Order: sequence, then C-alpha cells, then structure tokens
Amino acid sequence: MEKPFDRLKKDLRNIAKAGAELVSVDVPEVEEKPIIAEPAPEAPVTPAQPAAKKKAKKKDDIPINIYRPKDPFVGKCVSNEGLVREGGQGKVQHLTFDLSEGDLRYIEGQSIGVIPAGTDDNGKPHKLRLYSIASTRHGDHLDDKTVSLCVRQLEYDHPETGERVYGVCSKYLCDMQPGSDVKITGPVGKEMLLPDDPNATVIMMGTGTGIAPFRAYLWRMFKEKHENYKFKGLAWLFFGVAYTPNILYKEELEKLQSEFPDNFRLTYAISREQKTADGNKMYIQSRIAEHADQLWELVQKENTHTYICGLKGMEGGIDEGMSAAAGKHGVDWSEYQRTLKKAHRWHVETY
Ligand code: FAD
Ligand code: A2P
Repeated sequence: MEKPFDRLKKDLRNIAKAGAELVSVDVPEVEEKPIIAEPAPEAPVTPAQPAAKKKAKKKDDIPINIYRPKDPFVGKCVSNEGLVREGGQGKVQHLTFDLSEGDLRYIEGQSIGVIPAGTDDNGKPHKLRLYSIASTRHGDHLDDKTVSLCVRQLEYDHPETGERVYGVCSKYLCDMQPGSDVKITGPVGKEMLLPDDPNATVIMMGTGTGIAPFRAYLWRMFKEKHENYKFKGLAWLFFGVAYTPNILYKEELEKLQSEFPDNFRLTYAISREQKTADGNKMYIQSRIAEHADQLWELVQKENTHTYICGLKGMEGGIDEGMSAAAGKHGVDWSEYQRTLKKAHRWHVETY
C-alpha cells in the first residue's frame, strides 16, 4: 500500500503541474470508510480525524481536476455491462474503470472526462466528453479503487443524408472491452454534491442516464454502511424512461424501495407505456405536477435539496408544475427558485 508521505509528494507534484501553489492546509472533515465484511484498506487520501465536525462541505475537501486533458490518467476498463433489457430502446452500458494505478479520487455527484481514442476529422486528438459518476466515492467494489459510469450510445439519422451516425465517445465507451486502456480527466463538478446532513430530504428528478449521480447518492444512503453518515431522511426519485426495460438499475432500485419504504420513494414516468390523465405521454414533469403540492411543502424545508439530471428539456415542465403549486400560496416560483439556488438547495445538471 502507498505510504501517506509518498501520496503527499504526488499531490504536491500534481498541484505544481496544474500551475497552482499550496498556500494553506486545512484539516479535512472525517473521511468515512464503508463498513464492509472485509476491512477495506486505509483511506487513500484524506486522513481520519477523531470527531466529526458539523459544518458545510468546504471547497478544499472537494477533489477537482486531479488529472487534466494534457496529462490524463490512463485507467483500465474492468467491466462493461448492458443495462437495457429486451424490448428496451437503444444501448446503455454500466462501465467500471480501475483507478488503482493513480491518484484519481472523487465524491458523489461529480463527473469525469473521457478522451476517446483516435483523432477527429482534422487529425487532432478528440476532445474530452463529460460523464456523471454513477458510483460512490468507494466504488462499486467498495475498495476505493474504481469509478463507474452509465453511458448511452448516441445514435441518430443524419438530417441531410439519412445515414446512421454514432456519437464518437459514447460508442467508444459502449463498445469497450474489459482490459482496454481509457484516458480519464477530472473529477469536475461542485453543483451536484450531496448534503452531509443524514436527515436531509433529497428529491431527485432524472431522465435516462441522468440516473447516474442518483445511483451514487442512493448507494451511499442505503447500500453502504458508514460510521458518520447514516441516512435517516427522505430520498424521493422521479425517474423518466421510454419503456420498462429501459429502467436502468431497476432491480436494485426496487429492492431499496422494499427495504427502506419509509426513507425511499420511487416514482417512474414511462413515456411510451404510460399516459397522463389527458392522454399525453407520461413525462417526468407530469409526475412532478401530480405531486406538486407535496413537493412544494418539501422544498420549503431548510434541509431539502432538489436535484435535476438528464435531458435539458424537462426543466421547463418541472418549473410549470412547481409554479402552479407555489402560486396557490401566492408565491412566485421563479423568485423562490432563485433563493433555493442561492442557498445551494436546487441543483441542476442537464445535457
Ligand atoms: P459526438 O460524437 O460528440 O456527437 C454529438 C453531436 O452529434 C452533437 O453535438 C450534435 O451536433 C450531434 N447530434 C446529436 N444528436 C443529434 C440528432 N438527433 N440529430 C442531429 N445531430 C445530432 N452522457 C451519458 O451517456 N451519461 C452521462 O452520465 C452523461 N453525463 C454528462 C454530464 C455532463 C455534465 C455533461 C455536460 C454531459 C454528460 N453526458 C452524459 C453527455 C456526454 O458528455 C456526451 O455529450 C455524449 O455521450 C455524446 O458524446 P459523443 O462523443 O458520443 O457524441
Ligand atoms: P420519449 O423518448 O418517449 O419522448 P432515455 O435517455 O433513456 O432515452 O430516456 C429519456 C426519457 O425522457 C424518455 O422517456 C423520453 O421520452 C423522455 N423525454 C424526452 N424528451 C423529454 C422532455 N422534453 N421532458 C421530459 N422527458 C423527456
């Protein structure tokens, strides 16, 4: 195992490489380890501290750009599994990469960059694409040595030629063989971080691969056991997909729901199977409208955080539903939403 001093030296080298300098050192909050059957090795980066301090997540505690595009980390694909079942639409894969040979670490809600192999039409190396991290900081194997993604292969018919076109990076990832090298940058992102408060209400609204960060949150809340984070609040996931076989991580989500009925609510919007009362496609915003009065009550609580991830197109509809509920109480939703955003309680990552 790497010695703490060797890691410190590496971190200092990375800081220098990034053109920055170390101006102060803060003792971080307690870094918990998941409690698992086999004791995991010591936390790789953040030293433990005896008592947990109740304070907001400090900027310094959030790993950012440990690896930059000019000098990416080269990881290995450990597994690549299909998530869409028979009868579903398209190709969505759950990919896990080994990080054990480097310094990359991350927390729930962050993204990493992937640089596809090969060159673009101008013969230049491809640019990186961002992907939300779908695993907790401890990784799917609970050993702090992997990161997982949930990737949909982009495919469409060219508007002029009608030819089938595949997205460069998403195809590269979805076709990746275990054992292949992959260039990774980051992590990035401070928008979608989970509150430390184990009693928080966490409302998640996602379409398709927008489930990725929510998988990380839910696994942290319910599947892993931590000394200093025992979730006792309410998590409510609204999840929009095309067909039932497109419900990503369905079995595990439903298992969590049956195990934690008081703490986890799961509401699907299955656009090509379900219809709204007025006969339209069931989109996530229709589910929000159905539950808008209750959501309005919840978002007013100081420890409620709302997260939106996935298709950009859903945002307007969500606002409409919330606007109608707030309006019943004489409140202007867009103004209220501004205060929520300012208080870092309304989090959006759409693409
Ligand atoms: P490219 O080869 O880059 O092609 C994309 C281009 O194709 C578009 O710019 C557009 O010009 C064109 N195009 C796309 N659709 C059509 C169409 N219907 N008709 C005509 N032209 C079209 N993706 C995931 O799968 N999972 C994630 O978790 C995820 N997280 C993300 C997080 C963030 C913060 C961001 C910004 C994006 C995320 N994405 C995620 C999207 C991802 O970054 C890529 O954009 C996506 O995989 C497509 O990249 P590509 O290289 O395959 O496509
Ligand atoms: P549909 O494709 O039936 O129009 P995926 O990324 O796996 O394809 O899932 C995206 C889900 O989001 C699908 O159910 C899709 O429905 C739905 N969707 C598409 N456009 C919007 C939109 N503007 N607002 C909300 N949901 C949408």
